[in-house]
Amino acid sequence: MPTPHIEVRNKNEIAKTVLMPGDPLRAKFIADTFLTDVKQFNSVRNVLGYTGNYKGRRISVMASGMGMPSIGIYSYELYKFYDVENIVRIGSCGGYTSDVKLYDVILVKDAWSESTYAKVQGGYEGNIIEGTPELNQKLIKAANDLGIPIHIERIHSSDVFYRENPDKYKEIYEKYGCVAVEMESFALFHNAKVLGKNAACLLTVSDNLATKEETTSEERQNSFTNMMKIALELAE
Ligand code: ADE
Repeated sequence: MPTPHIEVRNKNEIAKTVLMPGDPLRAKFIADTFLTDVKQFNSVRNVLGYTGNYKGRRISVMASGMGMPSIGIYSYELYKFYDVENIVRIGSCGGYTSDVKLYDVILVKDAWSESTYAKVQGGYEGNIIEGTPELNQKLIKAANDLGIPIHIERIHSSDVFYRENPDKYKEIYEKYGCVAVEMESFALFHNAKVLGKNAACLLTVSDNLATKEETTSEERQNSFTNMMKIALELAE
């Protein structure tokens, strides 16, 4: 400590539970909007990290960047070197079916991926990794208590945003049952598994490949508050 990507010297500056949006400005938005007594703990590469109180309970929020290599680095350092126990990714996803509408919230039951991340990192040969059931149960309870509906589904964790075959999603939906695509949870779930930690992922639908609907980046930054409120209930 400090690690190559997080400048904290005292691990007590980071709470046991960390929420991870992809975008650093979304991390700042959460700290500014929902937390009190906020202290910024990271700015290396502008990957902003903050610790504060939510309803009097402690929680941290730090960006993951985009894609599995990026969340792989940050989640590994938080778990392994800063004693973080729980990471909840809060991100956006693209729907693969009209059953998921813009702004719907999805709790990721498990992530299917063709990525080599888990194989290269730890020799795991499978294509599906689940989130931590105990953490998911807490998030389901929080969503119910807040009256926010959620889908509990399998999603696709992809290494590629721009595919040469734009219709490939139809096959992944039909063959593997993935209702949406994002780019991080397979690596996060793998790191949690190999390090004996807990991980979950909440996603808000920002675009839909089947219906071609999409939101603007400004709408995305400010309107994902339902997912944030559910995850913030894990503060302790
Ligand atoms: N995150 C949000 N929308 C996405 C998409 N269409 N593909 C991959 N990740 C996404």
